[in-house]
Amino acid sequence: MATTADELREEVRRRYAESARAVGEGRSGDCGCGSGSCCADGESDAARFGEALYDAEQRGDLPEAAALASLGCGNPTAVAQLRKGERVLDLGSGGGIDVILSAKRVAPTGIAYGLDMTDEMLALAQQNARDAGVTNVHFLKGVIEQIPLPADSVDVVISNCVINLSVDKPAVLMEIARVLKPGGRIGISDVVAEDVISAAERAERGSYVGCIAGALSREEYVAGLEAAGFDDVSVEFTHEVAEGMHGAIVKATKARKPRQNGLPVIQPAAAAGCC
Ligand SMILES: C[S@@+](CC[C@H](N)C(=O)[O-])C[C@H]1O[C@@H](n2cnc3c(N)ncnc32)[C@H](O)[C@@H]1O
Repeated sequence: MATTADELREEVRRRYAESARAVGEGRSGDCGCGSGSCCADGESDAARFGEALYDAEQRGDLPEAAALASLGCGNPTAVAQLRKGERVLDLGSGGGIDVILSAKRVAPTGIAYGLDMTDEMLALAQQNARDAGVTNVHFLKGVIEQIPLPADSVDVVISNCVINLSVDKPAVLMEIARVLKPGGRIGISDVVAEDVISAAERAERGSYVGCIAGALSREEYVAGLEAAGFDDVSVEFTHEVAEGMHGAIVKATKARKPRQNGLPVIQPAAAAGCC
């Protein structure tokens, strides 16, 4: 059983490496559900996690292996309203399903980045992107708590059932704010707890690597995003995944003006009534 943050992250990495190997070999692995999703505990979870959350048209746009590799709890590409020419970053890109769908939307001039810490997932995603024939994709190895991209470099950040797995969620939210351009937006699917469900109760409902125990509550998500400098924050529950815990869509926009300590920064010239 993992005790430190590093051990917990390594447990997550091992679990998803095994899942990637299983999908690559055409078996569902030890993740224990029909869809092959690690974010699930049984066959009935196939409707709440994985490829079933994408419509037939989107699935038709994907190689079968990419759709089968879907381990998410929602469909961030359906909410992010991507436009041609934009730069999109998918945190915890897994087998690449959302990167491939995003790349098609922003093509030909836009770029879709996929960031993941698990070598086996990155290899699977690269193969799936090749099979899908998309070339405007870049896969990056790294952790979502320290995103390997410059400040103000992407228009949209998406993610599908990954932030609940992070051992340092405030760092992830601050990093998202750093890499987004002012006015940039997020469209995230994640597991989110009702505010009345305590951390101990979340842990009773499912495991950390299974995307349940590490979930934030709705209030915690909103407060974290506002502290990181986001406006127009919303967290909308879409489907229950365990008692009091939901697949949710999280949306927000990075403030256009820089902030300090959550408050807008008054530029000296503006403060003096100049210009
Ligand atoms: C539940 S799967 C979701 C994959 C993908 N988003 C999808 O919808 O199919 C979680 C993915 O996030 C990656 N991951 C988990 N924690 C991470 C972290 N801290 N930094 C980078 N990647 C992480 C795992 O390697 C795995 O590929």
